[in-house]
Amino acid sequence: MLSGFNSATLTAYSIKGYIMATKAKTKAGRVAERKTSRSQSPDRKKGTQAASPSAIDLLEQDHREVEEWFDEYDELKEDDARKAELAQKICLALKVHAQIEEEIFYPQAREATKDNDLIDEAVVEHATVKNLIAEIESMEVGEDLYDAKIRVLGEMVKQHIKEEEEELFPELRPAKIDLEAFGKELAERKEELMSEMQA
Ligand SMILES: [Fe+2]
Ligand SMILES: [Fe+2]
Repeated sequence: MLSGFNSATLTAYSIKGYIMATKAKTKAGRVAERKTSRSQSPDRKKGTQAASPSAIDLLEQDHREVEEWFDEYDELKEDDARKAELAQKICLALKVHAQIEEEIFYPQAREATKDNDLIDEAVVEHATVKNLIAEIESMEVGEDLYDAKIRVLGEMVKQHIKEEEEELFPELRPAKIDLEAFGKELAERKEELMSEMQA
C-alpha cells in the first residue's frame, strides 16, 4: 500500500507545474470565451439510439459528469462508502474517456487542426492523470493521502478539461470534419470500453 508521496506522484506534480507554467506563458490571452454549457443533457443514457450527440457534445457530457463527482467527493466528510463509490466511478470514467480521446478523438483533431503542440500536451496530461489513477486504485479510502490524491486528480482533470473546451474544441468547430459521425464512433467505443473495464 502506498502511504506517502512516491516518485510517480512527485513526477505528476512536477509535470503539472511545468504544464501550467508553460501554458501561463504561451497561452495567456488565447482564451476569449467560455462555452462550457453548450450541451446540457446530463442524463443521456449511453448506447441510446436517439440522435447521437456530436463528438464535442459527448466529450463535454463526460466532462460535466466527472466534475460533478469530484465536487460531490470534495463535500463529503466521513462517508467512506460513498467516497469509495465516487472514486471508482471517477477512475473508470476517466480511463474510458482518456482512451476514446487518444484512440479516436485526438488523431482526428490532430489531422483537422494541425495543432500538434496542443494535442501533445493533452497526451502528456493524460499520462499524468493515468499515473495518479493507478495510485488511487491501489489504495483504500481512508489511507493517508487518499483524499489529497483525489483532490489533486480533480484539479488536474478540471484544468485539462478547461484547455480542451477553451482551446481545442473551438479549433475543431470550423474544421471540415463530420462531428456527428465522429460522435457515434466515440459513443460506440465508449460503451465497449465501459463493459470491458467493468468486467
Ligand atoms: Fe483529454
Ligand atoms: Fe476530455
